[in-house]
Parts: sequence; C-alpha cells; structure tokens
Amino acid sequence: MQRLSDTPIPTYLVDSQEFANELLADEITTLLTEQAGRLVLGLATGNSPIGLYNELARRFREDWIDLCFVHTYNLDEYMDLPADHPASYRAFMSEHLFERTNLGPRHVHFPPTGVEDIDAACLRWEENIEAAGGIDWQLLGIGRNGHIGFNEPGSPFDSRTRRIELTESTRTANARFFEDPEDVPHQAVTMGIGTILEAKRLRVLAFGETKAQILERVLRSEDDPSIPLNALRRHPDAALYIDSAAAARLG
Ligand code: GLP
Repeated sequence: MQRLSDTPIPTYLVDSQEFANELLADEITTLLTEQAGRLVLGLATGNSPIGLYNELARRFREDWIDLCFVHTYNLDEYMDLPADHPASYRAFMSEHLFERTNLGPRHVHFPPTGVEDIDAACLRWEENIEAAGGIDWQLLGIGRNGHIGFNEPGSPFDSRTRRIELTESTRTANARFFEDPEDVPHQAVTMGIGTILEAKRLRVLAFGETKAQILERVLRSEDDPSIPLNALRRHPDAALYIDSAAAARLG
C-alpha cells in the first residue's frame, strides 16, 4: 500500500480491493475489542463496500467478531420503495451483511422514508444518532459526480439529514439495480454532509475507472465546495482507499 503524496485528503493506493477490505475489517475488529463490542457503525451501499461486508461476514462466521451490541446507521435510502423491494438499501444491507451476522434487527437504522412528516422524522433520526453516542466509524463510497451518501453536488457542507432530489446522472448510474430504469426513484433521504462530518472516523472506498475523473478533480485541484467529497478535507480523521484503476489520472 502506498500513501500518495500531496493529497488534500489522506489517500492510500492499494494493490488489491481485498487488501483494502481486510485493512478496514481490521480497523473495525480492533475497535470492537477496544470498545467491548459497543460500536456505532455508519454504513454505505453500492458495489464498493460488498467485499468489506463479505470479509465481516467471514470474520463473524469464523468467530473472530461478535456484532450483537453493534448499532448501524445507513447513509441513505430511496423514497417511495417498499422496504422489501429488492433495490431498497434495506434489502441490500440484509442480503450482504445483516442476515449473515448477528446484528440485531432493532440495532439497524435507516433514514426515515415511509412516514408523513419526513422533516420531523429526520430530526428524530439525528437525535437518535446523538443518543447512541455518535458514529464511531463511517464507511463511504463516492458517486461519479463526487456525491457522498446522496448529497449531490452543491449540497451545503453543513447540511443535515433530509429529503433530496436525485440528479439524472445518479439515477442513470443506479439504474443497474432496477428492472426498468424508469423505476429508479426520483427522491431519497440522505444523511447530510454536516451529519457525516460528525462521525469520528471517515473511510472511503473508491474502486474502478469510473472514479478516476472525480478523484482527479478532488485530489489534484483547488478546493471546490460544490463537490461533496471535498468536505472530507475538513475532517481530522478521514482516509481514501483507492485501487490503481481509480488512481489512473492522479499521476
Ligand atoms: C449510490 C449510494 C452512494 C454510493 C454510490 C457509489 O449512489 N447512494 O452512497 O457511494 O452509490 O456506488 P458504487 O460503490 O457502486 O460505485
């Protein structure tokens, strides 16, 4: 693993995705030991975290880790999808992590979507995170346009959990999870950038050539506050783990 020089956010080029997954799983394993199993994890969906979830499921199966006291808070969820819809983020998390470990059903939390007063429910969700002691360790992926969670470009860095409109580029990128591209919801609820910045540690996984352009814009250019990923410049313990395809334009 190589730490890239002169990046505004600490960035590590890994030889393989498996190496990054093991490294992050090691961090979680160490925190579980240090905190006697009482850990609050912020989790992400998409292709990038699947390998890490596989590694955590393996460690659970082989008795390295116990997640019975862990609470999880997911970054985002689509509006207007039933919870059991195969493309909902709840269904994704159940398949890739929750059903493969002993994470308790009442310990997993998603931004509120199926309620009438979304604004009030978002406030309660934020209070809930605070009451849990805040997020100890937050996993992030990035969209091709630099979004984090579903905070699209232009989202204020002090934004809180809220309902948002998805951009067409994000709807197109996520159409692969739906039978018909028209089925991709137009709205979602996402943790705000301000909410994300309150997590104690932020870890980003970015793999593949589709991430190369946005990484160049963030890591090799002046600070541009319209790109959500740039918010991580303001965090004391943030790190990016990228593979060689994602690093292709960094020189
Ligand atoms: C979605 C999610 C993001 C995720 C992004 C990247 O838009 N809302 O949280 O980071 O996808 O996904 P992938 O890892 O598949 O590139």
